[in-house]
Amino acid sequence: METKGKDIIIKVNGINICYDDLGEGLVPIIFIHGFPFDKSTWQPQLELLQSTNRVIAYDIRGFGKSTSDHEALSIGLFADDLVQLMDALQIKQAIVCGLSMGGYILLNALNRYADRFAAVILSDTQCIADSSESKAKRYKLAEQIEKEGLDDFATSFSKTVLSAESLNNNSGLAEHLKKIILSTSKKTVTGTLTALTQRHEMCSWLRKIQVPVLIVCGKEDTITPFVQSEFMHNKILNSSLYKIDKAGHLSNLEQPEAFNDHICNFILNKANLFEEQFIL
Ligand code: MLT
Repeated sequence: METKGKDIIIKVNGINICYDDLGEGLVPIIFIHGFPFDKSTWQPQLELLQSTNRVIAYDIRGFGKSTSDHEALSIGLFADDLVQLMDALQIKQAIVCGLSMGGYILLNALNRYADRFAAVILSDTQCIADSSESKAKRYKLAEQIEKEGLDDFATSFSKTVLSAESLNNNSGLAEHLKKIILSTSKKTVTGTLTALTQRHEMCSWLRKIQVPVLIVCGKEDTITPFVQSEFMHNKILNSSLYKIDKAGHLSNLEQPEAFNDHICNFILNKANLFEEQFIL
C-alpha cells in the first residue's frame, strides 16, 4: 500500500477513503472538511504545513473520491470512519481540525474516543443540534434536490458560505465550490442533510474536554455564526478563540494566511505538551 502522497485510497469501515498524506511529524494534523465539499478545501493548509508537520486531509464517505455503501449516513458513522482511518494509518493520536460538519464529526469522535486526540481545532462550527425550523428547511431542501437536482443548491450555497470580500475579489472561489458540489451525488447530499438534522447537541458535554482547543470563525459566517464559537469557548476550559476578518463560513479558504497563523501559533504554544505526551 502506498503510504504517502495525494489521492491515496484505503479500505476503512467497509468503504474506500481517499486521502492526502504529506510531510513528516510526530503528531499528525488531520483535516475534516465541511458539507458538501471535499478534501481539496484544505489545500492552503496542506501546502503550508507539510514543511513542518505530517498533514492528512481526507474525503468524508460519499464526498470527493471516497465511496459510500448502503448504510444510512450519520455523524456517528462519519466519526467512526475518522477513528478507523487513524487505526488503518496506525495513528494513535492526532491534532484534528474540523470545519463546520467536520467540527460536528470531530466533537462526536472526541466524545467517544477522547484518548485519540492530542488537540482539537474547531473551525466555523457549533455544538447545538438543529432547531425544528432548521430541520424543516433541510428536509425541504433534500426534497427539492431529489426532484430538481443539485444545480440551484450548488449555485446559491457556494455563495452563501462566502464573505462579501471573497465574493467581490475572489470570484474563482465560488465557482470552485460550485464544481465540488456538482460532482457530489444527490444521494450523498440528501443523505447527509438527513444526518445533519439527526445530530445530537454536544454543548452539555463540552466542559469535560481535557485537550487544548483552538476555536476560529469567520466574522461574516452566517451558517455557524461567531456567537456559536463564543458559546463553545465559554464552555471549553482550555480553549482559545479567534475571529477572522473578511471571512465567511470557509475561513480557512477565504483568509488562509490568518487561518494558518492561528494553527501555527496554537501548535507552537502547545508543542511542549505534545512532545511530553509522545516521549512517554
Ligand atoms: C457545513 O458547512 O458543514 C454545513 O453547512 C453545516 C450545517 O449546515 O450545519
